[in-house]
Amino acid sequence: MSLIQVRELSKHFKVPARKTGRFAALRNLFSFERTSKVAVDGVTFAIERGEMVGYVGPNGAGKSTTVKMLTGILVPTSGEVEVDGMVPHRDRKRLAHRIGVVFGQKTQLWWDVPVIESLRLLKEIYRIPTSTYQANLELFNDLLDLHEFQDTPVRQLSLGQRMRSDLVAALLHSPDILFLDEPTIGVDVVAKDRFRSFLQQLNEERQVTVLLTTHDMSDIEKVCERMMIIDQGRIIYDGAIAGMKKRFTPYRVLVVDFADGVSDVEIDRAELMERNGRQARFRFNRWQVSASELITELAQKYPVRDISVEEPEIEAIVREIYERSAIGERLEGQ
Ligand SMILES: Nc1ncnc2c1ncn2[C@@H]1O[C@H](COP(=O)(O)OP(=O)(O)OP(=O)(O)O)[C@@H](O)[C@H]1O
Ligand SMILES: [Mg+2]
Repeated sequence: MSLIQVRELSKHFKVPARKTGRFAALRNLFSFERTSKVAVDGVTFAIERGEMVGYVGPNGAGKSTTVKMLTGILVPTSGEVEVDGMVPHRDRKRLAHRIGVVFGQKTQLWWDVPVIESLRLLKEIYRIPTSTYQANLELFNDLLDLHEFQDTPVRQLSLGQRMRSDLVAALLHSPDILFLDEPTIGVDVVAKDRFRSFLQQLNEERQVTVLLTTHDMSDIEKVCERMMIIDQGRIIYDGAIAGMKKRFTPYRVLVVDFADGVSDVEIDRAELMERNGRQARFRFNRWQVSASELITELAQKYPVRDISVEEPEIEAIVREIYERSAIGERLEGQ
């Protein structure tokens, strides 16, 4: 039995039916007609204890809706969902002790109350032992500089400070499953880096399981070993991140430093993208020509000082997967 198990999970929302034609705006106003909007469409996956999984997809794909069903905030329209042996919307309270949740778009904290007071309230709500509470607070102080703004009411915090406070709130009861829906919006690079290392540390030391939703592919690449991609409510990719660069997008970039005095350069099977002083960047398709063939050709034709090959960004790969799925190509994860 997997820690998280989702089978054929769907969520349909009832939305007002839009009328068109004469007096449409007026008729919309008085209409009670509803149609169904499919947000999550038969999603199936399993996550084992200790996995760190990135959940990726374009705006409106169904990521937050999935996370809301996993955390018991929304009741599924159909299908099954089980987290740590519990059905989230039925066992919501019991499950809350086992999971930590962050929705970057919306704070879970009390708006008018200083951060530290919110945390004290959570300590009571979750009945966190004082020793655990103190130890966690100390840890987060080091990690996220909480002390700098812990006495400020949430409504007066900057976006990044608010996110940090929400992270602390989600982790305070030492949960071993984390659902993080865009947890790093507005967080600066230094804090982001610390947060990523911290997740890795939690995972190594306590086998904490993480489902991470973000539009920042470097978050995913640094933290997760596996990626699920959802588009229009359906999973279009589920597989290891390692190896994705090999399997998708055939393009690589060859960066060449020429010796002085080389002006025009041209090679057959690569496209010159950029020329900057002595340096040139060529794009090539590695399914048509290998880097070593190109390097040999270049070195024969021109005096070359240095050559390197650049791997594509993970972002380019995800974009490629969206595009292939949009034209109906089925992709299998590995
Ligand atoms: N309460 C709701 N009522 C009606 N439609 C909704 C509701 N919540 C979400 N939707 C719709 O369901 C779809 C999926 O939304 P969801 O918030 O899950 O997307 P997402 O993948 O999290 O996107 P984003 O990257 O923008 O956060 C969207 O088309 C959205 O408009
Ligand atoms: Mg979302």
